[in-house]
Amino acid sequence: MAKVAVMGLGVVGSGVMKKLTDNQDVITRAAGQPVELVYGLDIRPTEMPLGATFTSTFEDVLGMDIVVECIGGAGVAYANTKRLLEAGVSVVTSNKELVSDHGDELLALARANGCHYLFEASVGGGVPILRPIRTCLSGNRISRIEGIVNGSTNYLLTRMDELGMSFPAALSEAKELGYVEANPAADVDGWDARRKLQILAFAAFGARLGGSEHIPTEGISRVTERDLACARSLGCAVKLIAHGERKGNGWTGWVHPSLLSANHPLQQVRDVFNGIMVQGDFVGEVAFRGRGAGSLPTASAIVGDLIEIARGAADMPEPLNVPEYVEQGMDPVQLMVRIEADDLDSAHAYVAGQMPNARVSRVKDMLCLVTHAALYDDLISMIASLSQGQIRTGVPIRII
Ligand code: HSE
Repeated sequence: MAKVAVMGLGVVGSGVMKKLTDNQDVITRAAGQPVELVYGLDIRPTEMPLGATFTSTFEDVLGMDIVVECIGGAGVAYANTKRLLEAGVSVVTSNKELVSDHGDELLALARANGCHYLFEASVGGGVPILRPIRTCLSGNRISRIEGIVNGSTNYLLTRMDELGMSFPAALSEAKELGYVEANPAADVDGWDARRKLQILAFAAFGARLGGSEHIPTEGISRVTERDLACARSLGCAVKLIAHGERKGNGWTGWVHPSLLSANHPLQQVRDVFNGIMVQGDFVGEVAFRGRGAGSLPTASAIVGDLIEIARGAADMPEPLNVPEYVEQGMDPVQLMVRIEADDLDSAHAYVAGQMPNARVSRVKDMLCLVTHAALYDDLISMIASLSQGQIRTGVPIRII
């Protein structure tokens, strides 16, 4: 029998306890042995499923085989995870902040103590992505990984685009549904997507886990319904995209609001869904899609990791030829930018004169600028220099 505790009984932790209880028969069959929920650990007393005990004493869970860490953040969760792994207790988590900041150290600790540290749920919520890369696709050299990896911002963009909802109204809905981080800036400013990109790069390219701040990141907090209307006029949708690719012996990436045409495979990934495309040298392009946030989808991925450990199938590969992160470099990009002005006709003429290789079209009471292909930083400077006098520019949207 595998003895399990859940540490942190919030949205995700309670979903894990529910799944362990409701699907006990399925889980026993898959694990090849009973997986028993023994403790739920939190600082506030919480109602427990039948047969499980509530505790607020951390030492109680040191006697378990596997502990599910649902505390979140890199404070108490970090300290507790280290103590568990040092004691030889395997840990399963959805904590992307902890994994992306301290994953290498925690994996090394697990290896040294003969236990496991698994984090499938840290990317894509319920969408299987890390294990398929590590197992089914492991014989491929993966050149690119790109997707929508933040459910709450995808939910916000969908509600704003399809229902014309305001950003604050859509955000409070997403909060109620348990999609949003304790600090919503982590979602809307793109840090959550950046952390997930770092974890994807670990799985796809063998990159290190430990700090993701070097990845250029623009979130959606500056995107408005009017940018979405501009995109619609081009038959496109705006999504927050995380992109990683191999570059020489290293890898590079970015997180940015992006313009997706109607035939892009990720355009129809709506609401809280995530979609991730992986490009492998033998397999070609593979797509993964499903619920990227929320209690039960995340619990689904966590319980999958629990089962893998319980049936003795989890491995602990040593890092090999770790590629370093390299700067974006010289690849040209195209941007879409919304332009507003009191006198649209003269703004139109001015912008067309300043950027003769760009396309400028009129969309209701604004202009929609599609730049020529050039270096990102050069385009940003050109756009900044347009924004003077009566002309106001919106957030740049990357065309992919
Ligand atoms: N806030 C995260 C998201 C939760 O919206 O994707 C799942 O990681």
